[in-house]
Amino acid sequence: MMSQHIPVCVMPHAGGWHQASWRRPNTKGNDIWNFDMWRDLARTAERGKLDAIFMADNQSLWPVPEHLRHHTAKVGVWDALILTTAMATATEKIGLVATAHTEFHQPYELARQLACIDHLSNGRAGWNIVTSAGPQDTKNFSDAGQISTELRYEKAAEFVDVVKKLWDSWEDDAYILDQEAGIFFDPAKLHPTNFAGKHYYVEGPFNVMRPPQGYPVLAQAGSSGPGRQLAATTGEILFSPLGGAVGKAYRDDVLRIAAEAGREPGDVKVLSQITPVIGRTDEEAQEKWDWLQEHLHPEISRGVLEAALGIDLSPYPLDEPLPDLGATDRIQGYRDAVLSYTVDGRKPTLRELLTGFKGPGTVVGSPATIADYMEAEVENGAGDGFVLCLQGCPEELEDFVDLVVPELQRRGRFRAEYEADTLRGHLGFARPSNQFPAAARV
Ligand SMILES: Cc1cc2nc3c(=O)[nH]c(=O)nc-3n(C[C@H](O)[C@H](O)[C@H](O)COP(=O)(O)O)c2cc1C
Repeated sequence: MMSQHIPVCVMPHAGGWHQASWRRPNTKGNDIWNFDMWRDLARTAERGKLDAIFMADNQSLWPVPEHLRHHTAKVGVWDALILTTAMATATEKIGLVATAHTEFHQPYELARQLACIDHLSNGRAGWNIVTSAGPQDTKNFSDAGQISTELRYEKAAEFVDVVKKLWDSWEDDAYILDQEAGIFFDPAKLHPTNFAGKHYYVEGPFNVMRPPQGYPVLAQAGSSGPGRQLAATTGEILFSPLGGAVGKAYRDDVLRIAAEAGREPGDVKVLSQITPVIGRTDEEAQEKWDWLQEHLHPEISRGVLEAALGIDLSPYPLDEPLPDLGATDRIQGYRDAVLSYTVDGRKPTLRELLTGFKGPGTVVGSPATIADYMEAEVENGAGDGFVLCLQGCPEELEDFVDLVVPELQRRGRFRAEYEADTLRGHLGFARPSNQFPAAARV
């Protein structure tokens, strides 16, 4: 039955994914800075036997135009490393994936933080390797300029190499604790780092024991050309905002690059975004969606689209389709998700896009409708599993766990109990071997 399990990682955003969800009466999601809310959310996800909680992170306010900001609740972002650390102490089984940017950390520092979370959680940590999501983040760092996509990913690939080398510094059995001889560890089992690359120099060795998982699980969400390259060559879980045929094309492409790089099919899992609105019936779910849309500030959907596309939409006529937009510096996958939206198989007018596009992975329906969608997406090759975004946080997680998970379990598509204790175990990934050759270990 385990092979039938559809992996799901929940990606909760403070203030919810939908910009009106904070206005729901009785929502528990507005107490953003109270850890109790996050602790309860983590426990709910664990009660649902989800694979992991995946905390997004950015180094700036959510990109909503300044004049609309005060209408949204997406104004606070917990540091993902700190929040996952705290969640680790409140849970026992669920994986904890933290986003951390290569542009805003040093490899030694981040390798330590992640290794410590893996120790603290007994092997449940993951790292979502992000370069930088856009110019709004770099403006908050004195020495980081907005650099080209190619250079960001070139640096990121080297960053990951350094981090892995640091994680491999210590052999698993290096601590011998020979009290009689007075030898704490075997010096042959500690490897120097001496990394001298194009962008990073790190002497090492590392001051943290090899993580329980060998390496925390590596996640990536790049969808530009260089982003896909890094994702397919180093990522183990790849997050994609794309579903349907575009999602399948993305998955086929990254799996092809991964195979060319010598990786086995089971080494990589693509999780595509699902952002469900769940009711006991399709009608109830539709009512929830209608309520959200009715309470959305009219200009916000436009502002959100402009942020995703990286352009000002005002020059474009409302009753014509958008022209080809060329490249922008925004998240490629979200841009593709917007631009691949069709109405009756054709490119929508701008008005249709503004009123009809519900957002990546939005499915409105009963547990059976949501489960049908999930099974069909997996069947059609758009993803191996899902990154679950919450329209309202934590309400849609509670609905997912209480309504959709039992439906998936009935269909034999979701685990009833955790069968492993580590995130690698949940996802069926092997523990990576130490890169130092056996010869160097004797
Ligand atoms: C599901 C998903 C989650 C993401 N989470 C984050 C995040 O938390 N922080 C961030 O800065 N970027 C995030 N991104 C953006 C990507 O990691 C990447 O930086 C972005 O796609 C730009 O690279 P690209 O041009 O290769 O797409 C996410 C993207 C996706 C699809």
